[in-house]
Amino acid sequence: MSEFEPKIVAFCCNFCAFAAADLAGAMRIQYPANVRIIRLPCTGKADALYLMKAFEDGADGVFVAGCMEGECHFLRGNLRAKKRVDYVKKLLREVGINPQRIEMFNLSSAMGGRFAEIVEEMTQRIKELGPVSNDGCKETLET
Ligand code: FES
Repeated sequence: MSEFEPKIVAFCCNFCAFAAADLAGAMRIQYPANVRIIRLPCTGKADALYLMKAFEDGADGVFVAGCMEGECHFLRGNLRAKKRVDYVKKLLREVGINPQRIEMFNLSSAMGGRFAEIVEEMTQRIKELGPVSNDGCKETLET
């Protein structure tokens, strides 16, 4: 039987995480191919509806990656994104999906290695959780 390969959607800020992903590629740093990147002008654009829609459309995991706190080019976009990720965690719990399937990260454009680590970390986490269709009330109550 083949190993479960999760589908992970990454909402990445153009100025940091997207640039870091680009840098990881330029540095030839290997990371799992499970992630699909959506480039945003700022993570402040990552509406809770988009995050939920990613799950509805088949993602097993989602992460939002924005600039370091205090370094958002739009001042508070990354702080708003963090609140939305926390809000979506609550929504997921309510619908019986493990809230560990979504996470917020902060990094700079120079952190190509860190981007690869984040992808590795999320891929490993979601592999352990299994497909999103495996989630049930029991699992979410334990978290
Ligand atoms: Fe990067 Fe706002 S500009 S998170």
